[in-house]
Parts: sequence; C-alpha cells; structure tokens
Amino acid sequence: MTYKRPADRYTKKAKAEGFAARSVYKLEEIDRRTKLLRPGIRVLDLGAAPGSWTQYASPKVGSKGKIIAVDLEPLRVKVGPNVEALIMDALGDLSVLDPYGPFDVVMSDMAPHTTGIAFADAARSEELVERVLDVCERLLLPGGTMVAKIFRGEGFEQVRARMRTLFDEVRVIKPEASRRESVEAFLVGVSRKRPPEAPKATAEKAAT
Ligand SMILES: C[S@@+](CC[C@H](N)C(=O)[O-])C[C@H]1O[C@@H](n2cnc3c(N)ncnc32)[C@H](O)[C@@H]1O
Repeated sequence: MTYKRPADRYTKKAKAEGFAARSVYKLEEIDRRTKLLRPGIRVLDLGAAPGSWTQYASPKVGSKGKIIAVDLEPLRVKVGPNVEALIMDALGDLSVLDPYGPFDVVMSDMAPHTTGIAFADAARSEELVERVLDVCERLLLPGGTMVAKIFRGEGFEQVRARMRTLFDEVRVIKPEASRRESVEAFLVGVSRKRPPEAPKATAEKAAT
C-alpha cells in the first residue's frame, strides 16, 4: 500500500495557480529573501522536473534571459522559448554543460530517491550538493548565486565549509513551504568569489 500525503494549502495553491509542484513556493520565498532572479540572467536549474521552479523562473528572467533545466526525467509542463530542457544525470559528465554556461545562478532542488534511512538519505543528498558545487566551480560567474536543497545530516557542516571557500556569504534558509518535519533546508551561496588566476607559466614559456 502506498501512503498518499493529504493535500496541504501549498499543494492546493500550486494546483490552482497552474504550477507543477508545491516546491515553487520554496523558490518564491528564497527569491524574495535573496533577490535571486532578475531579467536577462542565465540560470541552471538542476533537478528541474516536474517543472515548477522553471515555470517560476522563466518569466522572471524574461526573453533576454535563459533557463537550462536539467533532470533525469523530462519536464511535465509547457515551457517558454527561454527554456532549454536537458535530460541528464547531474552525477555524470559535467563537461556536457559547458556549452550552456556560464551562469549567473545555479539552483538545485535535486533530491535522491529516499530510503527512509535518515543518514543514508542525507549522505546521498550531500553528494548531490557537492556536485552542485562542482558545477559552480566550473560554470558559475564571479558574483553569481547558488541555491541547493540539502537534507541535513552528518556531512552538512563539511558542505557548508566548502561553500564558504567559494562564496562571500553562505545562508541557510528553511522556507515556510518546506514541511516542518522534513530535514530539508536550502543552502544559499551569495556572490561567488573570483577564482584564482590560472598560472601564466604556459603563456610565458610559449613567448620565450
Ligand atoms: C523535488 S524534485 C524537483 C522539483 C522541481 N524543482 C520542481 O519545482 O518541479 C527532485 C528532482 O531531482 C531529480 N534528480 C535527482 N537526482 C538527480 C540527478 N543525479 N541528476 C539530475 N536530476 C536528479 C529527480 O529526478 C527529481 O525530478
């Protein structure tokens, strides 16, 4: 027998407003509190299916902006011309994303299939966030912002410490729409630090 959670006010609101999932209200709160999305920017949306974050972000970035929506599954909503959906595993080869970047915002609502074993679910969620950080190192512009869902577990502080090396400020947000009993929270990396200059040795060597 599968347990079906009763529809709460966010589920009902999402349905009434035509959003694919109640998760949209988590992003809405994060956006309100961090000024995440604005016209003209490029956004990478990891774990985008069924599509409510993409639905929310698409009009926010407008016709001059772009959303690259990545998931193992296809989106289940109709999206605008400023959205490109990629079916891919974010734990796979990240160089696939290179032609689509760099990005002003990298956001991830990725979640592992949960087993009910808290420490194992948290470890797999942390692995996904580590992957988001790999993407940020590769493709997030200096000054850019990252948002990632995490299930808080033993590795939480280690992930936060890595984020502090990459961002000027690291915030933890538990949106109102995030169920109180859930261990999920959202890590926000504000203003990516400029990566250190690549050594010039090769160019200098070539000139001699
Ligand atoms: C909570 S849902 C995301 C909901 C979405 N933000 C929305 O608003 O509609 C989590 C998603 O993460 C995706 N996901 C989990 N692991 C992934 C991976 N390794 N690569 C890409 N997507 C992944 C799942 O397929 C699932 O669609």
